[in-house]
Parts: sequence; structure tokens; C-alpha cells
Amino acid sequence: MRLDKGDPAIAGVVAALCVASAVMVAVVDGAKGDGRVTQLSNGFTARHSPDAPAPFEPVLYAANGAFAFGFLRVGAASLDLAVVHLASSFPVWRATPARVGDWSRPATLTFDTGLVLAGADGAAGVLWQTLNAIGDTVVLLNSSNLVVRRFAETRPAWQSFDNPSDTLVLDQNLTVSSPPLISGNRRFALRLAKTYMSLHMEFYGGRATPMYWQHTALEAQPENATQPPVYGCLDGRGFFGLYLQGSGEKVDVLSFDTFVQNLTGAFRRMTLEDDGNLRAYYWTDDAKAWTADYKAITAPCELPTSCGAYGLCVPGGGEAKCQCLTNSTATSPPCSAEETTDLCGDGDSDGGQVFDEVRLKRVSVAYKERLPFEANATAEQCEQACAGNCSCWGAVHSGASGYCYLLDFPVETMVYEADDRKVGYFKVRRPPRSSTRRGMSPGAKAVTAALSLILASLAVAGAYVGHRLWQRRQRRRRAGGMEQELTSSGPYKDLKSMGSSNSSFKS
Ligand SMILES: *[C@@H]1O[C@H](CO)[C@@H](O)[C@H](O)[C@H]1NC(C)=O
Ligand SMILES: *[C@@H]1O[C@H](CO)[C@@H](O)[C@H](O)[C@H]1NC(C)=O
Ligand SMILES: *[C@@H]1O[C@H](CO)[C@@H](O)[C@H](O)[C@H]1NC(C)=O
Ligand SMILES: *[C@@H]1O[C@H](CO)[C@@H](O)[C@H](O)[C@H]1NC(C)=O
Ligand SMILES: *[C@@H]1O[C@H](CO)[C@@H](O)[C@H](O)[C@H]1NC(C)=O
Ligand SMILES: *[C@@H]1O[C@H](CO)[C@@H](O)[C@H](O)[C@H]1NC(C)=O
Ligand SMILES: *[C@@H]1O[C@H](CO)[C@@H](O)[C@H](O)[C@H]1NC(C)=O
Repeated sequence: MRLDKGDPAIAGVVAALCVASAVMVAVVDGAKGDGRVTQLSNGFTARHSPDAPAPFEPVLYAANGAFAFGFLRVGAASLDLAVVHLASSFPVWRATPARVGDWSRPATLTFDTGLVLAGADGAAGVLWQTLNAIGDTVVLLNSSNLVVRRFAETRPAWQSFDNPSDTLVLDQNLTVSSPPLISGNRRFALRLAKTYMSLHMEFYGGRATPMYWQHTALEAQPENATQPPVYGCLDGRGFFGLYLQGSGEKVDVLSFDTFVQNLTGAFRRMTLEDDGNLRAYYWTDDAKAWTADYKAITAPCELPTSCGAYGLCVPGGGEAKCQCLTNSTATSPPCSAEETTDLCGDGDSDGGQVFDEVRLKRVSVAYKERLPFEANATAEQCEQACAGNCSCWGAVHSGASGYCYLLDFPVETMVYEADDRKVGYFKVRRPPRSSTRRGMSPGAKAVTAALSLILASLAVAGAYVGHRLWQRRQRRRRAGGMEQELTSSGPYKDLKSMGSSNSSFKS
């Protein structure tokens, strides 16, 4: 669950908690007159109480009172550590442990040499810790940066600004050595390379990371080997700047809508959201709301998963309209479960194909310029380039130009384009075992049924998270002009008569 629009329940309880803070033992200093702890010393321990009524239990406050660090409940019952913007309840930073804690069980946060979040079973239950950090104090700066320091040193031993989750805030540097920003649903990443920033989908646990958006620093010179890499930073004046490391020379800006307004004093963040878009927002205490003033991708159909796996996005107006590549009756996502493994190496025991093939006309990919391609290919050659390669899931041929784009990752949302020469070839994994011709035993049937049920519910759950926003829009629109156009343009024919779904688009 994201807390962006400001959860009033949380805000209320946060206020209450300022009085009755989380259970604390051991050394606590730096407490100000109002009882808010502003510094943790070595030896500090705080216990998360499983029956805590609030989804956020602060243990440390910034001096300006705008941010707090503490235990955060994420989703239904997961436990995380977070730095929360108190006015909006938005977590600007999260620890996001690889193994998530359980909110309904006890846990402790200790500050020994570094910060450690542990479950009930002590050392064996370490969920997250600051690595390679030896510190004497922990403070939360006015900027929301959580900093572990040694007394004698000005450089922090560890800081949350170097370990972003899905959000960058004012004055936080994104460098080539920073870990990428990862969206809350862990499906998208923002990375910085030497001269550009880019957005990626994440498949197979990060083994395939196809790029779907890129912004190159205008004045950086990719061919100049001695030029230092760029770093990015959100500026209070309303832009994301790209600078050369060392000299700090500005080599590009992404300017936001508010840049021309000379809006100063607003708190700003830039977040990689669950739909794969990168958006910037500002907060003003007058409006008490986050207002968006930048998005990397403006057209809904250009978002890589706007209609889910095997979806077809039909552009028109400001809104995405979704259909399915493989199912003529389904009109809303999910069209298909998300694929988590490739088609290699799990051949079926009969030596048969593990996938069906679907061929469609008038289909394209929003980010085709970023895909591997073959030039001067015919539609047949394009298909062949994909068909025999088990790491290929589909190929899109763009007619006259002869370009053949290969999808070396699971099929996500394709885009409708009113051009008969734009043809697509897609592989659809066959349900386990059900493709064999000989009859299945009742046992096998039961297993297959159970598996499909699990897959279906996974698909629903997965797509639900990613597409709530889309669904809200979907409900608002109904009678669609573009849908009529699709239907009147005639049924989509297979290029060959092999596909599992001819006339996929009669809706
Ligand atoms: C942080 O904010 C507080 C309150 O606004 C202010 O008194 C303090 O000087 C600020 N600290 C820094 C380092 O700017
Ligand atoms: C961000 O980078 C600039 C320039 O390299 C540096 O002066 C500044 O201290 C950095 N900020 C943080 C929070 O590390
Ligand atoms: C390469 O970049 C460095 C540092 O920015 C600059 O001093 C140098 O003149 C550049 N070389 C060329 C050939 O542009
Ligand atoms: C922007 O605002 C600042 C502070 O309010 C002011 O000093 C500056 O002159 C303004 N700049 C423009 C271009 O309006
Ligand atoms: C197609 O979609 C409809 C509606 O969502 C669903 O009831 C049906 O089971 C789907 N058929 C296939 C073959 O996936
Ligand atoms: C594609 O065709 C054009 C003109 O027909 C030719 O100039 C070009 O070299 C060809 N490219 C490849 C990769 O074969
Ligand atoms: C199969 O596709 C992958 C990804 O596009 C590519 O790296 C590989 O070389 C291809 N294999 C063959 C045998 O063409």
C-alpha cells in the first residue's frame, strides 16, 4: 500500500504518537523539550509492539519536525523501517529488507555499530542492517537524510541518501554508483549511467532489465572518455539537474511545470511509481497536498505495462483503453498472468512445444527504439528470428521500414497502431501439462485445475496492484470510439493459420 495521497488515519495517529512514542529502552539523548528524540546514541534499542495501533511508530525526529524515522507497516502486515514526511505520511525512504518482517510479531531496532532491524529470534532474525557502517550517533537531518556518524568525522559513515528506495528528495544526489531507484512493487528501476538516466522493467529477479525510457544529458559527451560521469539532483527551483562529477558543471535539466513560476520553499520529491512512470511532486503547507509537476512519460499507452501482460493499449484522448492480445472476450486487465521464468529448459516431456503462437496485425511497441532489432527483414524472417530462440517472447515487424524488433523478455503491453503492415508474433506459454493430447488422469486434472487457480489469483493480485489507477479510469470511460474503429477495421487475421486466437479483437 502506498501512502502517497496522505492517509488521514496515519496522520492522526502520528500526531498522537508524538506524545506517546514507541517503546524505548536504553540510552536516548538529544530529547528536546517536547519529548521528541532528535539523536540516537550507540546502544539504543527500540521495540516494535505487534499490537501497535498506528501504521507508523516514530523513534527519531528531524529538528525541523517535518520528518521522522521509525517502524512502518507496509501493505497488510509487513514491517519495514522508514523515514516519513509527517504532514503527508509519505515514506520518502524505506529500508526494504530482502526478507520482510511481520508486523504482528515483535521486532527490535538497535543502534550498535550500525542500525539493525531484527525479528523476534534475535541475531538469526536480522532483517536489515546498515552495512560497513561504524557510528556513534544517528540523526535525521532537516532534508530527511538519515545519517550515521562518528564523532570525529564530518563525512557520514552511512546515509539514507546513498541508499534510495523509490524516491529522491531535494538535494539528494543520484550517482552512477548509487543503487537504482526501485518502484514499490519492485517491477521498475531508475538507473543512472555515465551520460544518461533510464527506466527499466525488471524480469526474472533482475536478470532481464529492458529499458523503456531514456534521457541523455544534452551537453555531456558520451564519446569523451576523460569526461567524468554525471550525477543528478532535484533542485528546489523546480527541476532535476544533471551535473558533471567533480566540476559540478550543469549539463542538462529536466524542468518541471513549476520551474517558470519561481515557486520557492516547497518540499519536492521525485518518485518511481508502480505504473513505471517517474513523477515529481511538490508539497506546500497551504495546499496540504502533493501536486504533480512532472512525469517522464506523458502518453498512457507508452507506459510499459499500462494494460498488463499480453494487453493491447489503444491510444486516444488522454486515457489508455485496454484490450487483450490473446483473449477476445476479456476487455480489462489482467489478460494473462505475469511470466516469471523464460521458455528455455522446461520443455514438455513429450518433446512438444511449450508455447502457442499468436499473430496479429496493427500492433507495435511503445519503446521499440530501445529493443534489439534486425534490419531489412521480411515479416517471415522476423518471426523466424524469434520462433527458434527460447529467450525470445515475441517479435514486432514494422512493415515498410523492414525493421524487426525482438522481445527478449516476457510480453507486456503492446500498442495499437492503425497500420496493417505492423505485425506482431507472440508466444503464449501453454498451461502446464494440459497441452498433451492423451487424456490426463483425474489426479493430474485436479493438479492442473489447482495450478490454474493459483496462477489466476496470482495474476489478479499482481495486476491489481499495478493497475488500480488504470481501473479507476476504465470505469469512467465506456462507449469507446477507438473500440468501434478496431472492430470496423475487420477481424485480425493470423498470418499463418497456427495461432491460438484468430479474430482476437472482436470485442
Ligand atoms: C533544522 O531546522 C530547525 C528548525 O527549523 C532549525 O532550527 C535548524 O537550524 C535546522 N538545522 C539545520 C542544520 O539547518
Ligand atoms: C551531492 O553532491 C554534491 C557535489 O558533489 C556535494 O557537494 C554534496 O555534498 C552531495 N550531497 C550529499 C547529501 O551527499
Ligand atoms: C573531454 O572532457 C574533459 C572534461 O570535461 C574536457 O576537459 C576535455 O576538453 C574533453 N575533450 C574533448 C575532446 O572534448
Ligand atoms: C524568485 O523569488 C526570489 C525570492 O522570492 C526572488 O528573490 C527572485 O527575484 C525571484 N525571481 C524571479 C525571476 O522572479
Ligand atoms: C477470457 O477473458 C474472460 C473475461 O475476463 C474470462 O472469463 C475467460 O476465462 C478468458 N479466457 C481465456 C481463454 O483466458
Ligand atoms: C538494408 O537495405 C539497404 C537498402 O536496401 C542497404 O543500404 C543496407 O545496407 C541494408 N542493411 C542491412 C543491414 O542489410
Ligand atoms: C536468442 O536471443 C537472445 C536475446 O535476444 C540473444 O542474445 C541470443 O544470441 C539469441 N540466440 C540465438 C541462437 O540466436
